[in-house]
Amino acid sequence: MDSNLPIYGNYHGYYSKRPFVNDPRLALLPVDSFVGKRVLDVGCNEGYVTCEIAQSWGAHKVIGVDIDKSLVRAAWRRRTVVWSTQSPSAPGTDTSVHPDHFPLSFEHTFGSLPIPPNRNRGKHVFPHNVSFRASDWVNDQIPEDSEPYDIIIAFSISKWIHLNQGDEGLQRFFHRVYSLLRPGGTFVFEPQSWDTYKKAKRLDKNLMDRAATLKIRPEEFESLLSQLGFGPVKHFGLAGEGGFRRPVDLYVKL
Ligand SMILES: C[S@@+](CC[C@H](N)C(=O)[O-])C[C@H]1O[C@@H](n2cnc3c(N)ncnc32)[C@H](O)[C@@H]1O
Repeated sequence: MDSNLPIYGNYHGYYSKRPFVNDPRLALLPVDSFVGKRVLDVGCNEGYVTCEIAQSWGAHKVIGVDIDKSLVRAAWRRRTVVWSTQSPSAPGTDTSVHPDHFPLSFEHTFGSLPIPPNRNRGKHVFPHNVSFRASDWVNDQIPEDSEPYDIIIAFSISKWIHLNQGDEGLQRFFHRVYSLLRPGGTFVFEPQSWDTYKKAKRLDKNLMDRAATLKIRPEEFESLLSQLGFGPVKHFGLAGEGGFRRPVDLYVKL
C-alpha cells in the first residue's frame, strides 16, 4: 500500500471512533446466528468483530481478511489481547487451562499471556478458531476460499470497494460473496449510504474521478443481490450512532 491516506477505509484506531464492548451490529442478530458456522469477515480491519464472533458467538471457524497488511498485524495482536483478558467464565473457556482473569491493565503492563497450543483446547475454540489474511478479497483468492462459507460479513466496506473498483468491482465483490457461500448460507451486510460517498471521495483524486463514473447506487444493492440468486433481504434494524448509524441486512443464498 503506497498511500498513507485511508483510501480503502483502512483506518487505524477505527475502534476508538466506534468503541464497543459488544459490537452493536452483531447484537442485532439472533443469538445462535454463528453457532458452529464457518465465517468470513471481509474488511476485518483490526479484527474486533472477527474476534468477538470467534470468542462469544460459538463459531466453528472465523477468518478475517483485510487489504491492509498493517491492520492484519493489528488483528493478530487483538486476538492475543482478547485471549489474555478473557474471563474464566467466557463462552467456550475451559477454566482448568485458563484459571487467571488477566485484566486489561495487566495486559498493558506485563504484555499478553501466551496462547497455549491448540491440542489443549481444540481448534474450534477461541483463540484457535480465528485467523487473519492480508488480501484484496475482491480480486484475489485466499486459501480459505477453497471451502464454502456459511456466513460472509461485510460491515462498512461496500463504499470503499465501490469507490476504488467502480461499479464493475462492486459487482465482482457481490458475485464472489454469492459464489463462495454454500446454498442456504448468509450474507450479513452493512452498506454505507450514497451521501457518505461525498466525504470519502475527497480523500483522493482517483476516488473522486471514479465516483463520477458510478451508476449503481446503494438503494439498488438489494435488487443486484436478488438477481444473483439471494432471497429477499431481512432488515435487522439500525446500529451505531451519528454518521455510523446504518442498516444491518441479511441475505440468504437460495
Ligand atoms: C471502514 S473499515 C470497516 C471495518 C470493519 N468491517 C467494521 O465495520 O468494523 C473498512 C475495511 O475494509 C478494508 N478493505 C477495503 N477494501 C478491501 C478489499 N478489497 N479487500 C479486503 N479488505 C478491504 C479496509 O482496509 C478497512 O479495514
